[in-house]
Amino acid sequence: MESWTIQRIAPIRAEITVPGDKSISHRAAILAGLSNGVCVITGFLPSEDCLCTVNAMRALGVEIEQPEPTTLVVHGRKMQLEAPAGDIDCGNSGTTMRLMSGVLAAQPFKSRMIGDPSLSKRPMKRVIEPLTKMGAKLRAEGPNNTPPLAIEGAKLTSIEYVSPVASAQVKSAVLLAGLFTKGKTSVTEPVQSRNHTERMMEWFLLGPHVDGLTASIHGEQVPESRDFRVPGDISSAAFWLVAAAAQPKSHLLVKNVGLNETRTGVLAVLVRMGAHVREIVEIEEGEPLGAVEIRGDILKGTTIRGKEIPNVIDELPILAVAGALAQGTTIIADAGELRVKETDRLSAIATNLRAMGAQVSETEDGLEIYGGTPLKGAQLSSYGDHRIAMAFAVAGMFAEGETTIDGVECVATSYPNFYETFQQITQERQPQIPVIASIPTHEK
Ligand code: S3P
Repeated sequence: MESWTIQRIAPIRAEITVPGDKSISHRAAILAGLSNGVCVITGFLPSEDCLCTVNAMRALGVEIEQPEPTTLVVHGRKMQLEAPAGDIDCGNSGTTMRLMSGVLAAQPFKSRMIGDPSLSKRPMKRVIEPLTKMGAKLRAEGPNNTPPLAIEGAKLTSIEYVSPVASAQVKSAVLLAGLFTKGKTSVTEPVQSRNHTERMMEWFLLGPHVDGLTASIHGEQVPESRDFRVPGDISSAAFWLVAAAAQPKSHLLVKNVGLNETRTGVLAVLVRMGAHVREIVEIEEGEPLGAVEIRGDILKGTTIRGKEIPNVIDELPILAVAGALAQGTTIIADAGELRVKETDRLSAIATNLRAMGAQVSETEDGLEIYGGTPLKGAQLSSYGDHRIAMAFAVAGMFAEGETTIDGVECVATSYPNFYETFQQITQERQPQIPVIASIPTHEK
């Protein structure tokens, strides 16, 4: 088991980039693999999760070259896939299993997806239900609709699905399955979740239609092969944004980061907490991309709930750490989904924050964090969850004494070079940051 030992750091003055967006990398590999020609994907995130999706597509006969870690050359198969030779291993990746369930349910062959012990505990009913309504034959072999997932391919029919959960994975599974049907498939969600599948379908000229909370796609289409550049992952940037936001005199510039409006809620929350944030969109080719500049301050507590939750769902662990570093109370509510992530994140956050001396109460669907108590170093567990490991590495940067986080190998699922960026930020103390206003862009 690998561990990190972290100590308090001085205010950050740095300029960084972050690796490719995880959600977008999965979708690029899938849609390029279904397309009608060769697609070069640059900026791909070569993390364990995304490589599970690449290997799943390879198992279905898609040739994918990786001339360098962040470049994929995908030879699309015009929607014609081959039966896999064995089980498809989704590792720790819920996105791989849920998105691929939509693709596999529509194939004229059998398949079976398996996962690691954490993924094997995650709920799959949310995709089984709509796909079954479309005529799919899926069976969860674990207790309470958990993996492995055994799929007997079937001819699917289009559907108008009203989803009970605001989940981009569910929406994407149904829309991907819809591509293999006759007619129009639509998904209506209770609250807007990330829209990368819709945007990627647009980029591949599939003409999805979005009307408020309903996204639809016409079936019997083949994605038009096109190259795609994956922007940096704002969920990975979030760790450094909080590390800078919570310390007066810190100044951080993150370049080439995705600024999709369904993902930038973390910036709005940090502004409410008192950080100084500038967001500059530079390019919009399928996905908006740009720079974020942040200056730290003494933060104050805030409330994160309701419609904002899906937008910050992956950032809640690091925002909870920001809450512990802030003055006053931070309330997180309506976030019961965190209990079914890679670990029960509400419980993991509460346990680790308490070990560091913070005052926290855990509710059924959230946390109340009474900020302002100085954090002290502690021996913590990642609970095998990448975002818990990274969030508490940042907490360690503000604690008195030493913080050890055990089980940090899990960060490879989303941010393999997190520790190198940590070293860059703490060691390479740049005396001056280029003035952000010199970037030839418009300000948002
Ligand atoms: C993801 C959607 C979210 C998010 C996950 C990635 C995606 O999950 O938490 O990290 O790529 O679609 P849910 O769809 O379960 O909310």
